[in-house]
Amino acid sequence: MAESPPTVKEFDFQNPLQGLPPEYFAGVPIEVLRAAGLACMNASKTIKSSGDLKKTFVLYQQESPKDEFNHVLLATFYAAAIAHSLDWVGPKSLERLLMGCLLHNVGMMKLPAALRQKHPSKLTPEEEQIYHQHPRVGVNFLLQFSSVDEALRQVVYQHHEHADGSGFPNRLTNLKIYPLARVASLATYFAYALVHEKIAPIVLLKRFMTSRAEMVKFDPLNIRALVKVFIKSEDPKKKGKG
Ligand SMILES: [Fe+2]
Repeated sequence: MAESPPTVKEFDFQNPLQGLPPEYFAGVPIEVLRAAGLACMNASKTIKSSGDLKKTFVLYQQESPKDEFNHVLLATFYAAAIAHSLDWVGPKSLERLLMGCLLHNVGMMKLPAALRQKHPSKLTPEEEQIYHQHPRVGVNFLLQFSSVDEALRQVVYQHHEHADGSGFPNRLTNLKIYPLARVASLATYFAYALVHEKIAPIVLLKRFMTSRAEMVKFDPLNIRALVKVFIKSEDPKKKGKG
């Protein structure tokens, strides 16, 4: 009897981070876990209520390698956690940022499957050129959806831009990168390393903080916000004492 293909578990829009290994969140205080988790759930529910966008997201989940999809969810969580420490990100911007993170790699669907299985550092120059097109491909694909606005498009288009101008597709430098995309760039970079290197978040953060080559890729204010993600806020009962 022929074997039936493996079924992909249906994505739970009410609980988008369900299924991610708990090690990816180690060291994140409970209040940040709660706030960022709730923000991810709200963004996920907005995608669910957006008809064709929901279909696109489900299709992306179904045909993505597991690590790639886990990376997308984790990047969305860390973007929410970083934004939690940034005063200027209001509720609407937060929703656009997180929807953009959930959709940031939809352009990868149009790339050859073999290329998607490779680590970017292992790509040939020709493959690298194709890989570098995925933000543009993704944003062009999303143009058809009325629920995708300019803020969300910029997050998708610029999620690989780096503050030192070493990113792609346009080698933009820090202030030229859309502010929400600067957050997405750091969150996707951090989440990618967590998923692929399988090390504890706090170990990764310490390594990151001692690497000038990595630090210069991101807005220092966002790096500071990422560090704050792992610092437990002061017990309110102790405030004003001593
Ligand atoms: Fe990407």
